[in-house]
Amino acid sequence: MTPFLNNCPAPAKLNLFLHVTGRRNDGYHLLETAFQFIDYGDVLHFSLRMDGIIERSTTLSGVPPEQDLVIRAARLLQSHSGCALGATIALEKKLPMGGGLGGGSSDAATALIALNRLWNTGISRSELMALGLQLGADVPFFLFGQNAFAQGVGEDLIALTTPDCWYVVVEPGVQVPTPLIFSAKELTRDSKQIKVSDFQQYPKGNWRNDLQAVAVNLFPEILVVLDWLNIYGDARMTGSGSCVFCACQNETSADEILKNLPEKWRAWKARSLREHPLTEWLK
Ligand code: C5P
Repeated sequence: MTPFLNNCPAPAKLNLFLHVTGRRNDGYHLLETAFQFIDYGDVLHFSLRMDGIIERSTTLSGVPPEQDLVIRAARLLQSHSGCALGATIALEKKLPMGGGLGGGSSDAATALIALNRLWNTGISRSELMALGLQLGADVPFFLFGQNAFAQGVGEDLIALTTPDCWYVVVEPGVQVPTPLIFSAKELTRDSKQIKVSDFQQYPKGNWRNDLQAVAVNLFPEILVVLDWLNIYGDARMTGSGSCVFCACQNETSADEILKNLPEKWRAWKARSLREHPLTEWLK
């Protein structure tokens, strides 16, 4: 048994579009979205413990261990599999919290994938996806491992072919609490359902994120970023915000945009990925 799994990537996702099509009786919203993996994200390191203890060796500002999705994912896998082993987990956080990039969900998915290997628990991908759903609506996508058209609360996934390109992502410097956006009175929840085949025309057409108008109202800085990035391309917010992205034809155009970035924001470029970098471990 390997005692370590170091440098495990937890990539970010972008929502290329996001429609809110309804609301379930439990308050969760029915969505339609296209999830896109990008090659920028957090990195996790795992070392095996024989004493069954699960602990983190790094701190995450404002997130106590019992709320940390990585620790919760590890405990869930441990109890579900009846495994007596533990792990010490280090997290290198690059993705902003409350940024709509799925950072916490991706960290949790990477913890499930890596610990399933480290502990040799042999849980299947579909079982891991069901466990992941208990942790958050975006987690199953990261375990699905391919760019996807999602329905339901985000767990009903169909593999998608998306354009290979570069993206510029701008962080407006505000942390958006997802429940605040979904609970807003003014959120429109009646977008017409589309079919996965309608996505084949992407990026042609009027693609939008239904959560954007609400987020912009509550956090006006997001609109300032959208207005700035729209000069260079079709800028859109990802998830419930706050990050804003636009597609670029090549790396040089991404660099050109980044050169002109106002100092008050952080921004970076990333390449589209066709699949999760750890997808081999899920087979
Ligand atoms: O599942 P996740 O932790 O990402 O969701 C955070 C919150 O966002 C939920 O508690 C819920 O209030 C809201 N949400 C929703 N519908 C979704 C996803 C999230 O209402 N499909």
